[in-house]
Amino acid sequence: MKIGVLGSGDVAQTLAAGFIKHGHQVMLGTRDAAKLEKWRQANPKTQVGSSKDAAAFGEAVMLAVKGSVAADVLRTAGAGIDGKLVMDACNPIANAPPANGVLKFFTTLDDSLMERLQRDFPKARLVKVFNSVGAPRMVNPQYKAGKPTMFICGNDDGAKKVVGGILDQFGWETADMGKAEAARAIEPLCMLWCIPGFSKNEWTHAFKLLHE
Ligand SMILES: NC(=O)c1ccc[n+]([C@@H]2O[C@H](COP(=O)([O-])OP(=O)(O)OC[C@H]3O[C@@H](n4cnc5c(N)ncnc54)[C@H](OP(=O)(O)O)[C@@H]3O)[C@@H](O)[C@H]2O)c1
Repeated sequence: MKIGVLGSGDVAQTLAAGFIKHGHQVMLGTRDAAKLEKWRQANPKTQVGSSKDAAAFGEAVMLAVKGSVAADVLRTAGAGIDGKLVMDACNPIANAPPANGVLKFFTTLDDSLMERLQRDFPKARLVKVFNSVGAPRMVNPQYKAGKPTMFICGNDDGAKKVVGGILDQFGWETADMGKAEAARAIEPLCMLWCIPGFSKNEWTHAFKLLHE
């Protein structure tokens, strides 16, 4: 697939490299292409452009920007996201320090970031994914206990099926939690995931859902 990755940070770079590794084509979208020049040289198969360029390039879009600017970035992408799968890795982290290792969010338990984005961009087919693990373990993580679980949600079953295929490639077991409202539960997994990091400097874990 051709995937437009909106973002330039650790998540955007890690996922872009993962998409390339698994045979996809990638364009990263940023306000400042110059800062990705070194990275592009190290990853010569990757293109870099604006958010609008990257969204237009992609058959699917990967949103990996600071949660507080996610809507602004999608607005910049314009009609390039219409009708497309938009994978959303963003967490709604507030501009405030964690309390005893617990991050603060700017959303509520009755209104997640992904629901807000889906309301603002009704033509996009949003799927929450990759928000509940650290960037270094997003692509083919190795655990003795086997594949970790990636929790996803979104209103469009076809879009979630595509994401399930990508998660298979990236070495994850997919747990589909349902419609967009499930992001109210999936986004706070980021808070839970970060607690051992802030309190004990442990950042290598991932979640696994056990079934009988
Ligand atoms: N880091 C992790 O391990 C991790 C794990 C799971 C989920 N997440 C989530 O994934 C997302 C990306 O995380 P990250 O750590 O890679 O990067 P980040 O530092 O949270 O965000 C960097 C990105 O945000 C964009 N940005 C920042 N301010 C902006 C503004 N005012 N207007 C437009 N764009 C702006 C930057 O765009 P430019 O390229 O234009 O500068 C850049 O692409 C976040 O929502 C984060 O919560 C992170």
